[in-house]
Amino acid sequence: MLHVERVTKRFGGLVANEDVSFDVDAGQIVGLIGPNGAGKTTLFNCIAGYFPPSAGTIRLGAETVAGLRPEQCAKAGIARTFQIARTFVSMTAQQNVMVGALLHERSVRRARARADELLDFVDLSRAAERPAGSLTISEQRRLAVARALATRPRVLLMDEVMAGLNPSEVREAVAVVLRIRDRGIACLIVEHVLEGIMPIADRIVVLDYGRKIADGTPAAVSSDPAVIAAYLGD
Ligand SMILES: Nc1ncnc2c1ncn2[C@@H]1O[C@H](COP(=O)(O)OP(=O)(O)OP(=O)(O)O)[C@@H](O)[C@H]1O
Ligand SMILES: [Mg+2]
Repeated sequence: MLHVERVTKRFGGLVANEDVSFDVDAGQIVGLIGPNGAGKTTLFNCIAGYFPPSAGTIRLGAETVAGLRPEQCAKAGIARTFQIARTFVSMTAQQNVMVGALLHERSVRRARARADELLDFVDLSRAAERPAGSLTISEQRRLAVARALATRPRVLLMDEVMAGLNPSEVREAVAVVLRIRDRGIACLIVEHVLEGIMPIADRIVVLDYGRKIADGTPAAVSSDPAVIAAYLGD
């Protein structure tokens, strides 16, 4: 489904991603982990059209998406959440999701119906009419996921949706990710909350200084000496 092929991204002299390749299939959960500054968010920005890669290519199915603009990537089927929230705080939760739904829906009535369905899917129906800024952090993360889902993605990129959540909130977020996976959407998840991502990921890709240093099952990656040295510690 998503094919990242030899992607390099340079900012002046800084190489944020270097020759990174991996695939994510439909219905798969792939975790993207690594130290702060390893290049995880930069890779999301390349995949979702916020920057063109300096080299390499990105395909969604047979279609090359590298170099497309964000709205073109969204139309092609790539959705993302942001590490730094971009919620419209004074709009209601429902209106926030409608913004995503209006990418494809021509009618406001249908966008609202779609928003209600997705708020239910992320367990936020009761918050539909509340200003998004009044939601808890945990609720705002699920709202961001609902807004991304409203664009009808084939691939969903989630950037640290579990950061700062308490254990029961992490379990709720994990349940939402599993339901997304069960809809056949490919999930690529940047996460430092390893107790959230490790139990549910089919594969884990590890970045360090922009390069991929491991790609395998959570068990294999957790016991990989290079990953332990770079990120996991003893
Ligand atoms: N727009 C930009 N311009 C210049 N440098 C950038 C830009 N975006 C990211 N960088 C640099 O690229 C490197 C990778 O940053 P990135 O945000 O991708 O890391 P990350 O793996 O997401 O880290 P974290 O876990 O802290 O979120 C860092 O050195 C960062 O300073
Ligand atoms: Mg980041």
